[in-house]
Amino acid sequence: MSSSPSAEPSVTTKDFLAWKREGRKIVTITAYDALFGRLVDEAGVDGVLVGDSLNQVIAGHASTLSATLDQMIYHARMVRRGVRRALLVVDMPFLSYQVSTEDALRNCGRVMKETGAQAVKLEGGVVMAPTVRALTEIGIPVMGHVGLTPQSVHALGGYRVQGKGDEAAARLQADAKALEEAGCFAIVLELVPAPLAERVTRALGIPTIGIGAGPGCDGQVLVLPDLLGLNDTFTPKFLKKYAELAAEVRRAVGAFASEVRSGSYPGPQHSF
Ligand code: KIV
Repeated sequence: MSSSPSAEPSVTTKDFLAWKREGRKIVTITAYDALFGRLVDEAGVDGVLVGDSLNQVIAGHASTLSATLDQMIYHARMVRRGVRRALLVVDMPFLSYQVSTEDALRNCGRVMKETGAQAVKLEGGVVMAPTVRALTEIGIPVMGHVGLTPQSVHALGGYRVQGKGDEAAARLQADAKALEEAGCFAIVLELVPAPLAERVTRALGIPTIGIGAGPGCDGQVLVLPDLLGLNDTFTPKFLKKYAELAAEVRRAVGAFASEVRSGSYPGPQHSF
């Protein structure tokens, strides 16, 4: 971890690589604002991802496709104000990096300049390798993302497990290898059969961060409102809810409503 006299050490991409070599699991979580950025950082996660999942879980859209670069930068700047120790990674939204390498350099550069993030994440394997190389060559660390890549949900025919069957598994392995060779410091494996994710993990010198990819990955990532049980209509097999906050929010707000209506809040102790 890097340090300066005034700040506590913050996690770097080099730490991710070292932790893979040491067999230390890497904990990553999404966050979309300063409040939760601070809370997850204080909980001791290693990485915070400003995921374009915010377009679904925060903005209420059906997919990530309509997320914009300005929207990602807006949220990443908020998260930056909350996160002190963890590595901050920002998802590049659909069409901000696929059209041309020049576009990708400009847009990823904007994210790095305007948010204070330490890395960007983009989706795609072999096809994105030249872009990843161009980015890493100018000093922008890149986290890859293969398997279920939500920006391609319509081409993939839905949110389904990827890499099933020998041909698809070989393609996914080739995608991960191409990203490593192009300079990625880590790769998200999303919705991949556990044995395949483990094989890919063993074959790479960079860490894999799994979501719905079993225990054989070098680390795990979950979407924060899912983990907290805030997004209580989302119940995929891979998700473990570590709290039931949706029910708690309804209970607390319901109690506030009934006390306001009955006149018991505010009481003398809440008044000046
Ligand atoms: O957008 C996101 O939150 C992600 C994670 C699920 C890895 O890409």
